[in-house]
Amino acid sequence: MEWTPKMSVGLAELDDDHKQLIRVINQLGSDYKSEDRRAAIRQSLVALRRYAEFHFAREEKVMMACAYAHLEEHQGEHRDFVQRIQELTRQFDSDPDDMAEIVNEELMNFLRDWLTQHIMIEDKAYGSTIENNPAARDAAKSFQGSQVWWSG
Ligand SMILES: [Fe+2]
Repeated sequence: MEWTPKMSVGLAELDDDHKQLIRVINQLGSDYKSEDRRAAIRQSLVALRRYAEFHFAREEKVMMACAYAHLEEHQGEHRDFVQRIQELTRQFDSDPDDMAEIVNEELMNFLRDWLTQHIMIEDKAYGSTIENNPAARDAAKSFQGSQVWWSG
């Protein structure tokens, strides 16, 4: 799966975050085949938690800086994402050997839906509000910092 310009929300920093999510989706595709798939899936779950913490905070700060009208509904979707990842993490931790296949598959489906439903529709909806808005750019840049991902 590849990021394409039609996924752009109009701000490079947020697009970069979305590209990282696509990396996790691709990573999950190979996790299941990897030798230590338990460790690989666990690593993806941790990466997703970090992604949510970092990226949603950044995105919400950008929306706040532009007084985006649908901020609250959007935050609700972010909360649902966090809950779903927590649920799947619990499910996985309860029995990593038996759950690996189910959790991997559910994660892939969930993230693919997130990409098409949330990023392509809900995130793109704020595009016209944040595009060419200096306050949005400043807010995104103030969140520069830690790479939330493992390297490679
Ligand atoms: Fe979002």
